[in-house]
Amino acid sequence: MAELEVASADEFPPGSTKLIVAGPGMVIGVYNCGGALYAIEDRCSHDDGPLCEGTWEEDTCRVICPRHGSAFDLATGRPMSLPAFEPVATYPVRIVDGTVKVEVG
Ligand code: FES
Repeated sequence: MAELEVASADEFPPGSTKLIVAGPGMVIGVYNCGGALYAIEDRCSHDDGPLCEGTWEEDTCRVICPRHGSAFDLATGRPMSLPAFEPVATYPVRIVDGTVKVEVG
């Protein structure tokens, strides 16, 4: 189990996003959606699109795949619209001693 540093909690207020490299070919998007922290793999389950390089909706905590437009729930990774129908991996995020960290299993 590895914990990766994302940012200082002070520098990651609501509305913030950041991409972090979690390993070879593995990128994770981290979001502060209205004060709740989420992390989701930057790879769409439909056709491997760069999920976190698209837009996201802070009012619904969803990220929109830039390739074909599927929306994914940041909390669960579940697709909320077609063409994707399989979930994307999500990861626990927490604040430790003032630092936002994501747990990568
Ligand atoms: S690659 Fe994401 S919706 Fe198709």
